[in-house]
Amino acid sequence: MADRLELGVNIDHVATLRQARGTTYPGILDAARCCEAAGAQGITVHLREDRRHIQDADVYDLRRALNIRLNLEMAINPGIVDIAVEVKPEEACLVPEKREELTTEGGLDVVGQLDDVRAVVARLSAAGIAVSLFIDPEPDQIEAAARVGAPVIELHTGTFCDLAPEGAEAELQRLIRGAEQAHARGIVVNAGHGIHMGNVGQILRIPHLHTLNIGHSIVARAVFIGLEQAVREMMTAMDAYTGGEHA
Ligand code: PXP
Repeated sequence: MADRLELGVNIDHVATLRQARGTTYPGILDAARCCEAAGAQGITVHLREDRRHIQDADVYDLRRALNIRLNLEMAINPGIVDIAVEVKPEEACLVPEKREELTTEGGLDVVGQLDDVRAVVARLSAAGIAVSLFIDPEPDQIEAAARVGAPVIELHTGTFCDLAPEGAEAELQRLIRGAEQAHARGIVVNAGHGIHMGNVGQILRIPHLHTLNIGHSIVARAVFIGLEQAVREMMTAMDAYTGGEHA
């Protein structure tokens, strides 16, 4: 029997909610603890160059408080590489980043920036961090990941997840072939982006998977699992109203 497939929960969008109002809640550590209590094996956060959700302090706080694996998603940016080397997450996932994007679009072009990626992989690896490259299931990119010495890749499942069921099979086959190629090269294979309850069953057809990194759909689902309770709590608090008589 295969080892149990692990879950890394991406909690960026808990921070999105916090940053939208500049409040201290919802707390990143509270969110991480919930995921930990539910049995997730890892927490993923993306420290973006524009700091639109996760902030530097979140990463340091998580490092101090987490009992499970921390995976830091990051662009090839010298300042963020410095933070990673200081924080030493168990894993760092190198992703492409564009300022205007809604979320990470497309995988990292390892082929086109071989020397830069190799240098960052070497620096992070020397700090004891397992480096993962977020790439499309392209044979050339997977080969390049092996050549720069990345021990882990994360296959970009976003294209598959965005396709209507009729068009998705060919992309799923590409993911399957990509996982086989990486595994044959001795690379650990993770996958992520766009995975939700409706498509995860198909994602499970990809062989050799170690971890799925899932964020948006879990945070979105949590709203509906928790909204009723949140309304009840507020109404209970409001039941103390006495018409302002003892104000
Ligand atoms: N993996 C990587 C590399 C990502 O950039 C993201 C999005 O931040 C995810 C996984 C999670 O994707 P989603 O939020 O769509 O589940």
